[in-house]
Amino acid sequence: MMKKDAESLSGAEEFEEKKGKFITFEGTEGCGKTTQAEMIAEHLRLEGREVVMVREPGGTAVGEKIREILLDTRLGDIAPITEALLFAADRAQQIRDVVRPALQAKKIVVADRYVDSSLAYQGVGRGCGLEAVKNLNEWATGELEPDLTIMLDLPLEEGLKRAGELERDRIELESLEFHRNVRNAYDMLERIHPRFVLVDARGNPGAVHKRVLLEVNRVMQES
Ligand code: TYD
Repeated sequence: MMKKDAESLSGAEEFEEKKGKFITFEGTEGCGKTTQAEMIAEHLRLEGREVVMVREPGGTAVGEKIREILLDTRLGDIAPITEALLFAADRAQQIRDVVRPALQAKKIVVADRYVDSSLAYQGVGRGCGLEAVKNLNEWATGELEPDLTIMLDLPLEEGLKRAGELERDRIELESLEFHRNVRNAYDMLERIHPRFVLVDARGNPGAVHKRVLLEVNRVMQES
């Protein structure tokens, strides 16, 4: 095996390159992750840290166009593979243009969704398969792994009710069974990745923020 291949398999290349912290938020619909991502970014800024917030899909000029396609309810049926490729395309752009430069500059990147969303929604929800979606995203991101993933844990019905109070996008309109499968996929990811923590998302935003902060502080203390 070539040295470079061996390095990327071991993750050594990424380890040397990444200097900031990469925190991702995940969850099912209406779990409040956008609010929590914003609150934690604000908290870290008040501590004097440089924070970059990103959202997926979107976050770059190209990504915002891809987002329009992905969430447009008028487009009807998009093939699951097309959907997975579009999410990965958006991600590749954002990683190259925003996330890697920020991490190299020792900033903290707070992301509203990342690869785990694609594993749960496209890999399991749409049935593309975990292995295929994992491989696609390793290519799209150069295997960039978060330091911490906060999964906001809220009963599905409660979240869909909250989300239903706003206008629903193409994916939110999917069946309850689809969202149940997504939820089960997240639970499985939580079991296999130590970086993945489940945080109780019930209660008011301030109470949830305190729970999130405990996890973030723990990771910020690691060098
Ligand atoms: P998002 O803007 O985070 O919406 P919300 O805040 O309502 O959760 O994400 C939009 C939708 O895109 C959401 O239903 C989840 C879906 N999604 C995927 O299916 N795969 C992905 O890789 C990502 C990033 C999002």
